Amino acid sequence: MSFLSLKNLNKQFGDFTAVRDMTLSIEKGEFVSLLGPSGCGKTTTLQMIAGLLEPTSGQILLDGRDISHTPPNKRGLGIVFQSYALFPHMSALDNVAFGLEMRGVGKAERQDRARKALEQVKLGQFMHRFPKEMSGGQRQRVALARALVIEPPVLLLDEPLSNLDAKLREDMRLELRLLQQEIGVTTILVTHDQEEALSMSDRIVVMKEGEMEQIAAPLDLYERPVSPFVSDFVGKTNLFNAEIIDADHVKVAEHILLLPGHGMVTGASMQLSIRPEKFALSPQGDGDEVQVEAAIFHGANWLYRVRGAMGELFVTQPNTGAPGFARGQTARLTWPDGALSMFAEAS
Ligand SMILES: Nc1ncnc2c1ncn2[C@@H]1O[C@H](COP(=O)(O)OP(=O)(O)O)[C@@H](O)[C@H]1O
Ligand SMILES: [Mg+2]
Repeated sequence: MSFLSLKNLNKQFGDFTAVRDMTLSIEKGEFVSLLGPSGCGKTTTLQMIAGLLEPTSGQILLDGRDISHTPPNKRGLGIVFQSYALFPHMSALDNVAFGLEMRGVGKAERQDRARKALEQVKLGQFMHRFPKEMSGGQRQRVALARALVIEPPVLLLDEPLSNLDAKLREDMRLELRLLQQEIGVTTILVTHDQEEALSMSDRIVVMKEGEMEQIAAPLDLYERPVSPFVSDFVGKTNLFNAEIIDADHVKVAEHILLLPGHGMVTGASMQLSIRPEKFALSPQGDGDEVQVEAAIFHGANWLYRVRGAMGELFVTQPNTGAPGFARGQTARLTWPDGALSMFAEAS
């Protein structure tokens, strides 16, 4: 039996449907992300789980109990928002202990548990500081400690890293994931950042316009997106319209590609997607001739824009230490079998 389940969950604001028919089962200890563009219903879903928004219809079950209409304080879930929402006049320790005071925990135990929670998030030596004396990253850790100190059955995170700068955000991803695994707390993360979702989750739920578009483990989602929307939103990709020529061939622009087993009828339209890093670009040899139109060095890799018979393509290649291709150069482009994803719909 799953630990947390959403059953046909809906939320309407007037006649606008923000969340439609969400059905999802989450296992104990699992880390699940809700990923999608702004406005797709992620926060609304999370707030229904937290009890801060009433579902229009559907059910939420926690450990077999229907909590759909249980008030938030009775659900006892830990919540961390993008804004830290700390009390400015309280030290880190008091901020963390506050939730326990609300639950009637005695002073000595409160202090003890708050100290342990701050140590878990590596803020042991900062526990007497006030929020204004801490960096954004430290404040967000206090918010995390405050959510964890009540030992919630589920931790809900709404874009918790969005206010942090890029370097810190990356460090925090790893730390947060390690801490989550160590504690084993079931976690739902809301994010619009595909890298964040890919790097932290056991499973990702991609949402589009209030509905679930795909649920999959990060690698599966990246390698086998179910739609052009997912393939474009999760990672970078090259998308082309294609036409089925026969059982083994498709046409992209003026180029005929071998694509055995596509299983579609001759004359049908489809879309193809291939990720920039799946290509190999060589100075000569086999493959399609392409012209390098732009070359951008990113340190760890090169980003090229090339043009060939299929049109314009983005290609990334790892930096090996040798000079890359230069703008204007001619090169040969190949890709392995299975690198193309097919979608039976044309844009
Ligand atoms: N209280 C509200 N009243 C009316 N519309 C709302 C309300 N809250 C959210 N919405 C709308 O519901 C949609 C989903 O919002 P939200 O869940 O916050 O999106 P996300 O978190 O994915 O960016 C948006 O179009 C938003 O404008
Ligand atoms: Mg949101």
